[in-house]
Amino acid sequence: MSSGFIETGLSNQASHIHRALASLQEELEAIDSYHQRVDVSDDESLKAILVRNRDDEMEHASMLMEWLRRALPGFDLQLRKFLFTTDPIAALAEGGGPPAAIERGLGIGNLK
Ligand SMILES: [Fe+2]
Repeated sequence: MSSGFIETGLSNQASHIHRALASLQEELEAIDSYHQRVDVSDDESLKAILVRNRDDEMEHASMLMEWLRRALPGFDLQLRKFLFTTDPIAALAEGGGPPAAIERGLGIGNLK
């Protein structure tokens, strides 16, 4: 695990956030490893397993991102700004205005 520098004397919440971020890093690395193997595999039955494993890692990463969205101040705002929009990503970063996703209302739980 390459979780980087860890301060001493962290609060419980900061320790939890560190664990979640380190775990997310590991899940993202696993996605990358499986995706590379999928890309080069020419055995279709092995490729199918690797695709499933890669997608499982995406599920793990997504759960951690959601936990972080709830726990890490500021993460929710950034995710609302950049996710689930078809607007040009760089323009969202440069715009500085209210995030389009927030303006539209995310309607969490609303599948309309
Ligand atoms: Fe995983």
